Amino acid sequence: MNLGIPRGVQDILPDETPFWHLIENTARNLFEKYNYEEIRTPIFEFTELFIKGTGETTDIVMKEMYTFQDKKGRSLTLRPEGTPGVIRAYLMNKIYATTPIWKVYYIGPMFRYERPQAGRYRQFHQLGVEVLGRKDPYIDFEIINLAIEFLKTLELENLEVEINSLGCTKCRPAYREALKNYFSQYKDILSPIDQERLERNPLRILDSKDEKIIPLKENAPQPLDFLCDDCKNHFERVLNYMNEADLSFKISPKLVRGLDYYTRTVFEITTTSLGAQNAVVGGGRYDNLVETYGGPSTPGLGFALGIERLILLLKQQNKIKIERPPLIFIAIEKEKHVKKAMEIAKSLRTNYRVEMGSPEESLRTQLKWADKLNSDYVIFVNQGIENNILKIKNFKTGEEKEIKIEDIKELQHVVL
Ligand code: HAM
Repeated sequence: MNLGIPRGVQDILPDETPFWHLIENTARNLFEKYNYEEIRTPIFEFTELFIKGTGETTDIVMKEMYTFQDKKGRSLTLRPEGTPGVIRAYLMNKIYATTPIWKVYYIGPMFRYERPQAGRYRQFHQLGVEVLGRKDPYIDFEIINLAIEFLKTLELENLEVEINSLGCTKCRPAYREALKNYFSQYKDILSPIDQERLERNPLRILDSKDEKIIPLKENAPQPLDFLCDDCKNHFERVLNYMNEADLSFKISPKLVRGLDYYTRTVFEITTTSLGAQNAVVGGGRYDNLVETYGGPSTPGLGFALGIERLILLLKQQNKIKIERPPLIFIAIEKEKHVKKAMEIAKSLRTNYRVEMGSPEESLRTQLKWADKLNSDYVIFVNQGIENNILKIKNFKTGEEKEIKIEDIKELQHVVL
């Protein structure tokens, strides 16, 4: 049997999981305090959900989806991103009928058939938030601030916030037309995929990774030059709040993001430390998405962050010190000592990790286990407990000491 693993997926082994716990716990803590609640949507959905939402001319939908048929011939797709599933849940559960403003966060695996490299995988994990029902520019600022606050809580450094506005249904058509005219001049050098995009969604060409297209993007029309007054005002308000809060940012007129649903504000938080895969966070506003799925007109916005990329950065910046409590091994001499040993273990587990030996084995074997488990201390539960006395040994230094059982609770982190 081939014990390999598909490209772009990886195990998260026990020496890595503390990083994940730290990130997930920090996120849950912070997002809950901002009044977000957790949502868990399925890992696979009907393919159509992503075609309609993420967008049929995006790289994600055209090239990167893990799509398969189930036994009844229905087309299903492993979710490449979290937003469409959240909107589907909002609609199917008629949340809009009872909850005019809905704030949720999610943490989980996503799947994209991309070329794997450092910071880019085929199964990766996102941590994201979505807000439905708020159209004011203050909330755009608030979610950008939330992403920054989260990264700052983890003490991440060297971050750059890039912001742009993509306009709305009112101003987008003129921009689209300008882009179409511009790229039509270069039709002959566009790849077949970009030629198709030229007709269907020229904005996507700005997201093209084609070497020949990159220099052409330089002089392409920019969405900011086409914003209607409402969009201009909205964008200015967001930037005002950013300034008001002393958050540094850069306006990136070429930032278009790789998903189709965005309107108005889009943003990314990047870092130079990751090389080409430099976006840690990406997000923006999507005021038409709920309607695209047949729901009532509802503004929305959110962001998602790549957990693997974040861990790479935290490691590079030496920002996580994972400490586990000391390990105490309890050697049990006889079956009649088990009850007491369990009581002692229970009280110790408030501050320590505790491993139990076994009265089935000799003391010698139990001490070998203690050694193999890299224990810090061994407590001997033997006839001494009849006199309320326990022997405790510092396994690293060999030092031994006797303590009274009632003193167990007072044991501090360093017992010897
Ligand atoms: P996205 O920019 O496609 O946005 O992905 C967000 C983040 O996921 C990226 O910044 C990156 O950190 C991580 N990521 C994406 N692809 C990979 C990959 N192949 N390997 C590792 N990490 C990756 C979205 O997905 C939108 N749903 C965000 C959003 C939420 N917009 C509004 N609400």
